[in-house]
Amino acid sequence: MKLPYAEPYKIKVTEPIHTSTREEREQWLREANYNLFKLRSEQVLIDLITDSGTGSMSDRQWSAMMLGDESYAGASSYYRLKATIERIFGMPYFLPTHQGRAAENVIFSALLKEGDIVPGNSHFDTTKGHIEFRRCHAIDCTIDAASDTQLEIPFKGEIDLAKLEEVFKSYPKEKIPCTVLTITNNTAGGQPVSMRNIRETAALCRRYEIPLLIDSARFAENAYFIKVREEGYADKSIKEIVREIYQYADIMTISAKKDGVVNMGGFVAMRSAELQRLAMTYSIMNEGYLTYGGMNGRDMDALAVGLDENTEFEQLEARVRQVQLLGELLDEYGIPYQRPAGGHAIFLDAKKILPNLPKEHFVAQTLGCELYLEAGIRGVEIGSILADRDPETKENRYPKLELLRLAIPRRVYTDNHIRVVAAAVRNIYERRDEITSGYRIAWEAPILRHFTVELEKI
Ligand code: F0G
Repeated sequence: MKLPYAEPYKIKVTEPIHTSTREEREQWLREANYNLFKLRSEQVLIDLITDSGTGSMSDRQWSAMMLGDESYAGASSYYRLKATIERIFGMPYFLPTHQGRAAENVIFSALLKEGDIVPGNSHFDTTKGHIEFRRCHAIDCTIDAASDTQLEIPFKGEIDLAKLEEVFKSYPKEKIPCTVLTITNNTAGGQPVSMRNIRETAALCRRYEIPLLIDSARFAENAYFIKVREEGYADKSIKEIVREIYQYADIMTISAKKDGVVNMGGFVAMRSAELQRLAMTYSIMNEGYLTYGGMNGRDMDALAVGLDENTEFEQLEARVRQVQLLGELLDEYGIPYQRPAGGHAIFLDAKKILPNLPKEHFVAQTLGCELYLEAGIRGVEIGSILADRDPETKENRYPKLELLRLAIPRRVYTDNHIRVVAAAVRNIYERRDEITSGYRIAWEAPILRHFTVELEKI
């Protein structure tokens, strides 16, 4: 008999989670203004709001923390992280930051000026926020196939080269400070980008003399998909694939809270010493001195180990398998989600699950509230609340897709937890005809409103 699969680690520390009654959850959700971000974590049984900063560190990472050097300037932790970044990504210059959006802040402060254009494949919300805040425009050049949730293709997060070239032809290169390629493409469903697409995007950028910035939050999961799905990469190690990816990049920003498997941290790295000099000022102003930039010495050490460990195939295989398990269970129950299963999350297709709701009722948000009420599971809306209003017309933006993202933290939940999630979604799906009303906005912030929005029942 072929032995079943087993994870390449065992568990040394556990943390309790709490069950609750539906009545309790109804009260807590009301008190949270139907905004799942405002729930307290102990009111949640299985927390799938994000895979960012929520992973379990390894024993090697915890022990590396004891070696942390908290010197203000020139800490040895910084040099250990620097050596790791050079070895894994081949990037000679870097600035640590406290998380991914801080890296965006530092580099965009150096690169962008009002009126600039930044094309990319579904910029993440903070990326877009940093672009629009500077009165610049993010142009989404993702392939059209990404918005057909039922289409099963291996690299659904790619950039459409024809759309990208159209942008390059429409504006002078002085107005396009960089192209942002996000791997994996979070907004499109944790969908990967092929090496071929990365290579061709880089070639096009080079032809038009526009730097390529890779938003690298989930670079290792992307490399995993290249290895298992793209011809010619099966025999390459994850580290070899990562090295090739970054040969094509001029700049990288990273939220290390994802594939770095740390609770906090990030950095921006680049090939150009001149650009690093330009960006330094913003790092010192906003993050801290150059050799810590918002991170503790111990956190830089944990990150160096995390980057090394999480660019090993076995770790990534365990991770992606668990996401795929949730996908397979949902398939059994006939529940529609962005296919195929992504690297870090399942994105439920809320419009298909709740067909009776008008878009003004915030369909994915309604599904998120239902899932919390059903079983204390917390996901996150990737739909029209997240999409914010158009900065010029101030009208609500209704994206093609209304998704509820169920992001799975790394090495945190067991397959039993995943089975509870699938069963809870199934229960909602079975009573979908009864769900005919959602929520309206009672208060919202002018930008990145989804974090703090207050809703009321319609
Ligand atoms: N880029 C991508 C692709 C991201 O997914 C995120 C964060 C960021 C940048 C910003 O990084 O949070 O460290 O400042 N994504 C989290 C998520 C919040 O839940 O997907 P950060």
